[in-house]
Amino acid sequence: MCGIVAYVGPRDAQPILLDALSRLEYRGYDSAGLAILNGKGIEVRKKSGRIQELAKICLAEPVKGRLGISHTRWATHGAATDKNAHPHLDASGRLALVHNGVIENYLELKTKLMETGHIFLSETDTEILAHLVGEAFSSSREKGDARLVEAVRSAVQQIQGTLGIAVIHADMPGLIVGARRGSPLVIGVGEGENFLASDTQALAPYTNRVVILQDKEIVSLRADRFDVASPLGIRENVKVEEIEDGVAASDKGVHQHFMLKEIFEQPSAIQNAFRGRLDADGATAKLGGLNMSPQELRQIDRICVLGCGTALHAGMVGKYLIETLAKIPVETQHSSEFRYGDSPVSGRTLFFAVSQSGETADTLGALREARRRGFTVLGICNNVASTIARESDGGVYMHAGPEIGVAATKSFTSQLVIFTLIGLLLGRLRFLSAAHGRELLQAMENLPAQITQCLAYSDAIREIAQRYAHASSMLFLGRLANFPIALEGALKVKEITYIHAEGYPSAELKHGVIALIDKETPTVLLATQDGVYDKNLGNLQEIKARSGPIIAVAHDDDKKICTLADTVLKVPRTHELLQPILNIVPLQLLAYHIGVALGRDVDKPRNLAKSVTVE
Ligand code: AGP
Ligand code: GLU
Repeated sequence: MCGIVAYVGPRDAQPILLDALSRLEYRGYDSAGLAILNGKGIEVRKKSGRIQELAKICLAEPVKGRLGISHTRWATHGAATDKNAHPHLDASGRLALVHNGVIENYLELKTKLMETGHIFLSETDTEILAHLVGEAFSSSREKGDARLVEAVRSAVQQIQGTLGIAVIHADMPGLIVGARRGSPLVIGVGEGENFLASDTQALAPYTNRVVILQDKEIVSLRADRFDVASPLGIRENVKVEEIEDGVAASDKGVHQHFMLKEIFEQPSAIQNAFRGRLDADGATAKLGGLNMSPQELRQIDRICVLGCGTALHAGMVGKYLIETLAKIPVETQHSSEFRYGDSPVSGRTLFFAVSQSGETADTLGALREARRRGFTVLGICNNVASTIARESDGGVYMHAGPEIGVAATKSFTSQLVIFTLIGLLLGRLRFLSAAHGRELLQAMENLPAQITQCLAYSDAIREIAQRYAHASSMLFLGRLANFPIALEGALKVKEITYIHAEGYPSAELKHGVIALIDKETPTVLLATQDGVYDKNLGNLQEIKARSGPIIAVAHDDDKKICTLADTVLKVPRTHELLQPILNIVPLQLLAYHIGVALGRDVDKPRNLAKSVTVE
């Protein structure tokens, strides 16, 4: 969601900004723009739509200058139009600002500013902030860089809400000021040049040396130096970190889309999730990053998992895994609901905040709320440099590699592996026998090869997808740990194909959903052979009796289901607790191939953002 890139150095800013912005495309956006200091004043180019549209107008009329800010916008206040795109200028037209986040008290501030003669050109909340900084700048008595820094500080103090911003002023050549509260911002440290970005991915070809700004910090950035100030004063000894994710991450390889590439990366992604974490001797898992002793882990009597979207679905499978393996009651909550709700939490509850990006605003808010109440919160994140990873008390990294496709795929299966490891570890500290633990470890080691088997059906699933691509609605049903898989399968279809899809526990069919069944509405039924297989077959018959087409996810050696379902998506057989990890793979492929058949922009579906950094 919404990205910021800023550059100051000896090179032409425009091509660098356009290139770095395009590396943030995967986050999702609906317009883009840049502002460059051209020696006299500020020149702005902005456009709704793709970055290519912005690039076209920039190439037609290039802006020359060595300092600039740029933005991809994901509209929250005002439609995705050229006017609402960032950057926004202040009343003097000499200050430009880009903003990620939401200003909650913007109406109140806007009314006040309008009373004093301010005229606004857009419907955004952001433009108010540009005017506020401009006001503070013109009335400031500070000298040097402090003039803009203090103007930003005083404007930000008037704001309620979240922000990551970059600001430039024509009277302060060579200076960029950035600030963050809630939305991430990193400094990219180059040789004689410096960058500011909302995501390290933007900086991949330019530098791997970064400083991650902490919440409420302000940075003043010049080509040869930068200063970071927190509300408590200047941050001394700023640590420059080296990051690993490189340019290769943005390469689709042989695949047509990042989503397909990432689906196909799952054998290695899940291997990375358990690599070095299997303890064959102890028949358990080793998770050093939890920062909790076995004694502390034994004292937990409840677990609460927080997440949004796919991450929450992983948590729902996690609930099943932990309750089965460790017999600890687990509750899952939408981060957004937990953060504002009154839900009572017992004293010895351990929290998990699950987030691929580690920047999801709702999950970050929920994590902070749980920590404020004095609970330990462990993060399950993919992005090592993320805010959630840093603000957690400990956690487990996924090591899935960058996930660029907006639809989460490999991060989901990695999260499931991590919950298996957590369940195993907690189980072995309680009742789970070594024999059971060992069975699970062995089954885990076989998973990468079994996922490869699932992927071999991709071409067959492409043909199946053609058959169902014209459905206007789809249902997904599953029981127990396969219920969240049904939810996740339905989410993938909604996101990628724009076909209406719902996931339900199979038995809920009779309680209302069955009214939707007709011969045009396919049902995907998760029916691998487990303790509830016969129950699922009962549901299958109910659907058939009402002429509903059935796509069953079933074991590759299950002959019976072939005679009952219209279509079978085959998966290999594994340990019952691990079966969801395989069952989701054909559903990811089905959504992908339907999306392609319908000509959808599968890597960047409409309205969606990869990393949802606003509430
Ligand atoms: C997944 O396909 C979605 N794009 C979305 O539901 C996502 O899982 C959710 O926004 C949470 O993201 P996170 O894991 O980065 O916190
Ligand atoms: N709230 C701002 C807007 O709607 C910023 C949105 C974003 O983060 O991209 O313009």
